[in-house]
Amino acid sequence: MCGIIGCVGTDETVPTLMDGLSNLEYRGYDSAGVAVQNGKGIATFKRSGKVAEVRKALPESPPSGTVGIGHTRWSTHGPPTDQNAHPHTDPESRVAVVHNGVIENYDTLRAELEATGNTFVSDTDTEVIPHLVAHYLDQGDDHETAFRRTLDRLDGSYAVAAIIDGDDTIYCARHGTPLVVGIGDGSYFLASDVPAFLERTSEVVYLEDGEIARIEPDGFSMMDVHGDPIETEIEHIDWDPKDTGKGAYDHYMLKEIDTQPTALKKTLEGRIEPETGTVSLDGLDPGHFEEFEQVDLVACGTSYHAALYGAKILQEAGIEAQAHRASEYGTSSQLVSESTLAIPVTQSGETADTLSAMADAAEAGATTVAVTNVMGSTVARQADETVFIRAGPEIGVAATKTFSSQVVTLLLLARRLAEDMDDGEPREDFDEVLAALDRLPDDIQHVLESSDARSVAHKHIDSDAFLFIGRHLAFPVAKEGALKFKEITYEHAESFTSGRLKHGPLALVTPSTPIFAVATGEVRSKTLTNATEAKSRGAPIVLVTDDCDANADLGDYHLEIPETHELLEGLLANVQLQLVSYYAANRLDREIDKPRNLAKSVTVE
Ligand code: G6P
Repeated sequence: MCGIIGCVGTDETVPTLMDGLSNLEYRGYDSAGVAVQNGKGIATFKRSGKVAEVRKALPESPPSGTVGIGHTRWSTHGPPTDQNAHPHTDPESRVAVVHNGVIENYDTLRAELEATGNTFVSDTDTEVIPHLVAHYLDQGDDHETAFRRTLDRLDGSYAVAAIIDGDDTIYCARHGTPLVVGIGDGSYFLASDVPAFLERTSEVVYLEDGEIARIEPDGFSMMDVHGDPIETEIEHIDWDPKDTGKGAYDHYMLKEIDTQPTALKKTLEGRIEPETGTVSLDGLDPGHFEEFEQVDLVACGTSYHAALYGAKILQEAGIEAQAHRASEYGTSSQLVSESTLAIPVTQSGETADTLSAMADAAEAGATTVAVTNVMGSTVARQADETVFIRAGPEIGVAATKTFSSQVVTLLLLARRLAEDMDDGEPREDFDEVLAALDRLPDDIQHVLESSDARSVAHKHIDSDAFLFIGRHLAFPVAKEGALKFKEITYEHAESFTSGRLKHGPLALVTPSTPIFAVATGEVRSKTLTNATEAKSRGAPIVLVTDDCDANADLGDYHLEIPETHELLEGLLANVQLQLVSYYAANRLDREIDKPRNLAKSVTVE
């Protein structure tokens, strides 16, 4: 949510900033801009719309400065206009600032600054920051002190970076939203997220909350809010820069759907002892979870659907487990204690609602084990333990491959918990689960190569609404199918447990409401019955199951999945639904990788 980029020490500042912004566009794409320091002052270029609009706004020979900052925005305060785009400056353009987060006391600060004659040109909360820095510079503070005194006035959350006229330094700080410094060869970078500069360096230093960094052409230093130095630890990011590119694909989403077999091989790699079938997960050895009595999974969006799937697997193993929407966790009355294991599930590791739910659980005494994709992410740094899903970078705003890798990781974690926890009942058929997991990448490949999703997606594209139904493990898949469909097609899509259909939603059913029926597991026959009830009312039925022949009369269209263990059928069905959404959105000419109003990483509550 809002992407920040900065660079120091490269002689290609503007191209580097623009590449970084393109790489970060999944974080927000309402407006974008850059500011560079080139010895003659600070030059700022910004526009509403996508990063491409800023490219167009740049002069033919962009300024050749060696220090710059950039930003791609997901609006919170003020609509996406040129004026509200970042960077923001003070009236004399002595200070330029980019910011991700929300300054909660901005109206008080703005009133105070206006009272002393400052004029504001945007509706944003951010604009108070450059004004304040300039105010402290006017009081005679040196640059670093003016920046630190400004931070001291801010309430709320921020990742913020500033450049000051006549100074080749980026001043930046983190308080509640992510910021990472990249260490290149004679150059330094700053970003909200590593993919921004991954093609330039994989050596990084993550800022923690309350830390400030000075990034200069000959090095960088970190300090606390009082200016006292802090030791830094350089980490190596094990991601292939090629994975952040689109390759030969038109869209990241299709690439990410297609690469699920490879991603899943990495998720599974080395985690199952072939001789004994013992699961080992990132140091969580047998016995690790003996003292826990219940499990709370907290997550948002697609990750919530993976958590719901994981909770059902845990419940089947005799464990008291619930998946919670992270934004509601603190408001519900669930009992959390020292015997609770809280599992935040989050692709980015930065979703504010999920981090807040994790903090609530920890506060109430729970132990936290994060399931995430991103090394160095806030969740990985704050949780007691972390299990990485190893899906590789995901750029498309609509999550795809990370859902599959999250579910498989949770399935492995469920095995560990079932063996350790008192109430746990390890599955007797785990050998069969392992064999199915081993086949899973090939089974998904088969779906990818044989799917009829494109032609199914093109049928009934003008329908009034699209309904998705399933029971038990197929229910999270129906929910995910509907979410994916609405996210990228902008069409109305809803999901229901198939049994619920007859208790109200059936009133919606017409020949213009196709129903995607996910019929998997032992309960499939009930879903088939519910689909038949809807068909009798005229709804076209798209059947997603492993035995289409046996149900040839029911389905108007069929999306067949290979036979596998029932714990994994949902993952195969989900791939079919991902493809349906993709091809429907493509047919409707939607912005598939950057759907309107959304952002991949939502760092405000
Ligand atoms: C946003 C994105 C969704 C994502 C959700 C949770 O809403 O648009 O695609 O599923 O955040 O993100 P996380 O990084 O926590 O999995």
